[in-house]
Amino acid sequence: MADLRQEIARRRTFAIISHPDAGKTTLTEKLLLYGGAIQLAGAVKGKASARHAVSDWMELEKQRGISITSSVMQFEYDGFCINILDTPGHQDFSEDTYRTLMAADSAVMVIDAAKGIEPQTRKLFKVCAMRHIPIFTFINKLDRDARSPYDLIEQLETEFGIGTYPMNWPIGSGQDFKGVYDRESGRVLAFTEHHRGANRIEATACGLDDIPALDALIGPRLREELQNDVELLDGAGYDFDEEQVRSGALSPVFFGSALTNFGVEPFLKSFLALTTPPLPRAAAEGVVDPFEDSFSAFVFKIQANMNKSHRDRIAFMRVASGRFERDREYYHVQGGRSLRLAQPQQMMAQSRQIIDEAYAGDIIGIFDPGVFAIGDTVCEKSRRVTYEGIPTFAPEIFAAVERVDTMKRKQFEKGMLEIAQEGAIQIFHAPGSGLEEVIVGVVGILQLEVLEYRLRTEYGVDVRRRTLPYQFVRWIENDPNELDLSRLNLGSDSRWVQDFRGNNLLVFGGQWSIRWAEEKNPGLVLREFRRN
Ligand code: G4P
Repeated sequence: MADLRQEIARRRTFAIISHPDAGKTTLTEKLLLYGGAIQLAGAVKGKASARHAVSDWMELEKQRGISITSSVMQFEYDGFCINILDTPGHQDFSEDTYRTLMAADSAVMVIDAAKGIEPQTRKLFKVCAMRHIPIFTFINKLDRDARSPYDLIEQLETEFGIGTYPMNWPIGSGQDFKGVYDRESGRVLAFTEHHRGANRIEATACGLDDIPALDALIGPRLREELQNDVELLDGAGYDFDEEQVRSGALSPVFFGSALTNFGVEPFLKSFLALTTPPLPRAAAEGVVDPFEDSFSAFVFKIQANMNKSHRDRIAFMRVASGRFERDREYYHVQGGRSLRLAQPQQMMAQSRQIIDEAYAGDIIGIFDPGVFAIGDTVCEKSRRVTYEGIPTFAPEIFAAVERVDTMKRKQFEKGMLEIAQEGAIQIFHAPGSGLEEVIVGVVGILQLEVLEYRLRTEYGVDVRRRTLPYQFVRWIENDPNELDLSRLNLGSDSRWVQDFRGNNLLVFGGQWSIRWAEEKNPGLVLREFRRN
């Protein structure tokens, strides 16, 4: 059996985050390509499934496995064992997108060089920043007309309040994009051809002071520009501080073009050298070291399979410590019982396979007969740990949902509750009232469509949905005995509601009404995420 420490030390588990169309799929594909995990670019499933219309998506989901395969990709490169976590964008953006980030040890943020930071980049960044994980920035599409690299860097710093450290610097952009200057080695990497294909590309390296060679490679104008830029960058006195990278306070920035492969392999090498092996995790019993002998894992995502027997689900677990072995008995902390995990699966680039073992850093998919909930811990009975739950993220889209057939109250309530417990939606209701009319909160519109579909097919209930004008939710941290919530002074577009666990929340129509609530109700404490 492989050496535990060695296996864990070579694992790198990260998420790639971006706004749709910035190039996440293309970059992922190229990384897999360099890792030899796929032969042809265009093979990453996520792209195809993400672009399907809703109805197709449901069909795909029913066939099991399509979205599962695109959730995690594992491949080898340079002695590292790499797990890339997919964070769905496009129409299937959902709370799962956020939860997936809980399983990553670092994040690669892909930014379109012509557009800079976009709304979905902001949302995903916020979740990474909350965890203080290292965030690496890949500024993509330099082969097209791009904004000035200085502007892009400044935007990252001012909008995200982080430091940045350009690891390389682009030489030209658009048709003129010749390559990058690698600051660590002090060498220019010039790419000779614009190559859109699936092959690796070679770069010609050249020192900055070899002027004749540089002029031949990139031309005197770009060479001069580069010399000025390098002087400016080096003079700016930014320090590269590895500690700050580890805590997410400083983001190493890379420029490149995923489509033409420019700068992809240098990025991968540098990223792997800097990013972290599996990180320790906080548990109720204290921080757990991933290198411990004892196996432990937590559930971060549950995939229902959309068929009538909705108990047929896959629970995704991030192995947090030790080694997982198939056919051994483990302990499900929240369920309070031992179990053998059936059909443990791991996702390779394009297929699933049953695995015999997995290590801290890996993601495994377990057949779930309906016992797991998001945030649950599985560990060894002799070494019990309970990981901190996965936070509940603030929904941004709200709808009132009621049943069409008033006779079906029981099925409606059962369906709503079960689907909410699974973590597929969040549900709220007026304080003290039942589930006559339910307010559903989600982060992606597809979640609402999936809800309707599942209520109809699994519970036999047709529903009516009405969009509500709320956009924000905040959890009330105050003890309800100390603050009379029925007397809160709220704006006209705000409302007090409760979730199915009885927690108190406020929903708001706009950002300003959150400020209003805070100003008009001294002592009121509101939170954007809720730790479960
Ligand atoms: P996403 O996963 O972040 O949504 O982005 P994706 O990789 O699907 O890329 C979105 C579009 O941007 C694609 O074009 C892709 O080819 C293009 N793209 C990605 N990286 C680069 C790059 O470095 N340079 C240039 N010029 N384009 C890039 P599309 O036309 O939407 O799709 P396709 O027809 O190319 O498949």
